[in-house]
Amino acid sequence: MTSDSQKRVAVVTGASAGIGEATAKTLAAQGFHVVAVARRAERVTAVADEIGGTAVVADVTDESAVDALARQLHRVDVLVNNAGGAKGLEPVAEADVEHWRWMWETNVLGTLRVTRALLPKLIASGDGLIVTVTSIAAFEIYDGGSGYTAAKHAQSALHRTLRGELLGKPVRLTEIAPGMVHTEFSLVRFDGDRQRADAVYAGMTPLTATDIAEVIGFVATRPPHVNVDQIVIRPRDQATATRRVTRPAGR
Ligand SMILES: NC(=O)c1ccc[n+]([C@@H]2O[C@H](COP(=O)([O-])OP(=O)(O)OC[C@H]3O[C@@H](n4cnc5c(N)ncnc54)[C@H](OP(=O)(O)O)[C@@H]3O)[C@@H](O)[C@H]2O)c1
Repeated sequence: MTSDSQKRVAVVTGASAGIGEATAKTLAAQGFHVVAVARRAERVTAVADEIGGTAVVADVTDESAVDALARQLHRVDVLVNNAGGAKGLEPVAEADVEHWRWMWETNVLGTLRVTRALLPKLIASGDGLIVTVTSIAAFEIYDGGSGYTAAKHAQSALHRTLRGELLGKPVRLTEIAPGMVHTEFSLVRFDGDRQRADAVYAGMTPLTATDIAEVIGFVATRPPHVNVDQIVIRPRDQATATRRVTRPAGR
């Protein structure tokens, strides 16, 4: 890997778009050598090139790709488990098992695979940090959201379990739980239906990917004895997963 060996290394999964892309840029500006991981080669390479980082084209649901990622990294100081998302909004009675499988594979098993593969290097760094981007869906539920909320609850449980299991080891753990952030999230959830995706954010001001990245940047620059356990970030216009402001158009 062509990284400046003096620099601390931050691995960001899902760095080709949204929160991951913004986080990669923020961490690079703070002096980290960023390893940007995602499936879309062109996009993740463009992000890495822009920040002088390294692009790794990998699917977090593919064990051999994750193992290959771990093998090519000599050093890992920070891991941001960000790759993830939602598919569909069907009620349980009409649940699409393939949607569930995608959400569990990506959010839960993806986080498990990448974390397990990079953990020895995070420990060896002497001051490792694991940031996992869950969601308010990790502690709330809503109609039609069972597949996503179940996956995010599980991802959060995995992350919080590690906090206890790693006690005494030089690794910090932070869970970031955002509310509505305007990214490609809804476009992915609704299978490319732009109108339906845009309607999610109509009449309110959602968070931006940069809003979340700045908070992750804050966490990554605390001194080694400070563990920020959990941060919930919502737009002012959103109180819960289902309660939010809806202003008439143009106001
Ligand atoms: N937006 C929100 O309102 C919101 C709220 C709370 C939590 N979150 C969480 O925040 C995280 C980031 O979402 P986002 O809003 O930034 O969505 P996004 O714009 O759709 O970005 C998702 C990123 O994950 C990557 N990804 C998806 N599946 C992957 C896989 N199997 N392997 C590797 N990378 C994969 C995508 O890249 P490729 O397609 O190139 O692989 C993309 O870079 C997710 O975990 C999401 O659940 C989002």
